[in-house]
Amino acid sequence: MATIESRLSQIGYRVEDIDEEFYNILTTERPPPASLGFIVSKDDKLPVTVGPFELEVHQSKGLLNSKHEEGTTGAVVWRLSIPLAEFLLENFSSSNAFLNSNSTVLELGSGSSGVMALTVGRKVKRWIASDIDAIYRPLIRNLSENLGDEWSEKDGMFTQTGGKKPKGKKKVNTSTSSPTESSIEVVVINWEQTDLRSNSVFRSGTGGVNMKIDMIVCTDCVYNIALIKPLIDTMVEASRLTHEAHGVYPLVLVAQEVRADDVLEAFLTTFAELFEVWRIDRHLGGKWDREVGGSAVLHAGFLKDN
Ligand SMILES: C[S@@+](CC[C@H](N)C(=O)[O-])C[C@H]1O[C@@H](n2cnc3c(N)ncnc32)[C@H](O)[C@@H]1O
Repeated sequence: MATIESRLSQIGYRVEDIDEEFYNILTTERPPPASLGFIVSKDDKLPVTVGPFELEVHQSKGLLNSKHEEGTTGAVVWRLSIPLAEFLLENFSSSNAFLNSNSTVLELGSGSSGVMALTVGRKVKRWIASDIDAIYRPLIRNLSENLGDEWSEKDGMFTQTGGKKPKGKKKVNTSTSSPTESSIEVVVINWEQTDLRSNSVFRSGTGGVNMKIDMIVCTDCVYNIALIKPLIDTMVEASRLTHEAHGVYPLVLVAQEVRADDVLEAFLTTFAELFEVWRIDRHLGGKWDREVGGSAVLHAGFLKDN
C-alpha cells in the first residue's frame, strides 16, 4: 500500500478537504460530454482501439432505450473506459504500479462492452467483471468474440493457461508481464442486493471468504444519486472482505464524468467519509487529455480503518 500511495502522490494529490476538491472540480472549465458520454455509432458493432488492442464491440441501443426494470446504461460503450484502460496499461508492472501480472481486480458496473476486461484484464491474474443480470449475456458475447481461441468459457469464467495470443488485427506483444495462468470472470453483482459474503466468486475451496482483491475499479458508474450509497456500500464490503482475510485494503479507482453537480457532491462526500481519497490528475495519457479533458475526474481511495 505504501508504494501505491507514493505512486498516487506522484501523479495526483491527497484530498484533505472534500469541499475544496468539489470547488476545484466545479471551477475547472469542463465541456459537458457529448451524448452523455457514450460512443455514438450507427452500427451495432463498433471498433474500439485501446493501446495495442483492437476490439470489435457489440452494443445495443435498443437495450439502452428499453424500459428494462434494472436500467440498461451498460448496453453501449462509454468513452471513459478507453482512456482509463490505457492509463492502467501504461501504469502496469513498474515497481510501484497499481497492477501487475499477479493482481486480482473486481470491476463494478462493467457494462457489456468488456473494454476493461479485454485489455487490462488480459494482463492480470484474475479480472472479475460484474454488473446487473441484464448485462450478463451481452458481456459474455463481447468477451467470447474478442478473446482468442486459447480462452475457454464455462459458467461465465474464461480461462487461459500457457502463452497468450490475443485476437485482434495488430500483433500484440504480451511476452512481458503477462500472467502464465489467468482468468476473466463475469458475475452478477447488483449493488442494491449485494451480499458478497455469500457470492461463490469470493470463496475458494470450502473455507470462508478469502479472495484477495488488489483493485476495485468502476468507470462511469456515478450518475444517479439513488445508486451512490449502494455503490459505495459495495466498495466497502469488498474492501472489508479482503482486509479481514489478508490484512490489506484494495485500491478503489473511480472514474466519473462530471455531469451533475449534486451527483458529484453526493458521491465525493460519502466516499470521503469512508475512504482516504486521492485525485489523480497527471500522467493520465494522451487519450484522456485529448478526448476527456476536464469533463471527467479520476479518484482513488483506500477504506479507512474504523
Ligand atoms: C454508464 S454505464 C458504464 C458501464 C461501463 N463501466 C463503461 O464504462 O462502459 C453504468 C453501469 O452501471 C451499471 N449499474 C447500474 N445500476 C447498477 C446496480 N444496481 N448494480 C450493478 N451495476 C449497476 C449499469 O448496468 C451500467 O453497466
